[in-house]
Amino acid sequence: MTRQYCHIGSRTIAYLDSAPGNHDLRTYVLLHAFPLGANMWEPQIRSIPKGWRLITPDLRGFGGSTELDSLSALSIADYADDVVDLLGELSVTSAVIGGLSMGGYAALALVQSRPGSIDALVLADTRAGADSQESRANRRNMLAVVDREGPSGVAREMMPKLLGQTTRDTNPSAEATVRRLIKQQSPVAIRGAIHRMMHRPDSTALLATIRVPTLIIVGEEDTLTPVQESQRMAEAVTGSTLVTIPAAGHLSNLEQPDAFNAALAGFLVSLK
Ligand code: MLT
Repeated sequence: MTRQYCHIGSRTIAYLDSAPGNHDLRTYVLLHAFPLGANMWEPQIRSIPKGWRLITPDLRGFGGSTELDSLSALSIADYADDVVDLLGELSVTSAVIGGLSMGGYAALALVQSRPGSIDALVLADTRAGADSQESRANRRNMLAVVDREGPSGVAREMMPKLLGQTTRDTNPSAEATVRRLIKQQSPVAIRGAIHRMMHRPDSTALLATIRVPTLIIVGEEDTLTPVQESQRMAEAVTGSTLVTIPAAGHLSNLEQPDAFNAALAGFLVSLK
């Protein structure tokens, strides 16, 4: 799938699109984690259910998308706005919206701003709460790592948190893939994302307002957003389905793609 570019004013939004211009298909959008780009969805791009079109944007600054000139007043809502603008440009009026981790924060920001444009929701390895004081302190340390060492330093720091124990023990190529995906990103994108995540609002109360079918996925060995976080979200979202993926950590879509794809496809085909 070749990268597409959408220019809106002085901004460029890059994205992967499995069926450009095809409005006969139903659309689902997958939003990537930190500090990766749309390419993290490669295993999902290879497994698109019949009748569906997949769009995966690079969030602001990542991949081929531009970041704002100024890094002040950054908000996680910026990412949601980009999704709205992109779908508007592509004349896609409603879509299933999914996101993994930071992508889930962006999906929840979209629930907040445009609930009517979402057909259904997928929240993978994410949480509804805001950062704790301790998480913010860790983010500040990560900002220092980006300044000092760039994306390679971030890759080194993040790796043990992104991949589950089973993957680290048994699948060395997964680590190489994730390292490559992180090193493709710019320090500007990474800094922008850290600022947005550390100031994102608490979306816990929003969960009870969700009225669309919702799939919650979590890797059994996820230590960044542990299973209990997903269980709490599943209890709060009426009628949601929770799928736990065995032998996967935080990047469950990359670590156990077959199980992740089966959960996603089962959900999509169940939608009316
Ligand atoms: C992610 O995977 O997107 C991030 O680790 C989320 C976070 O740091 O809160």
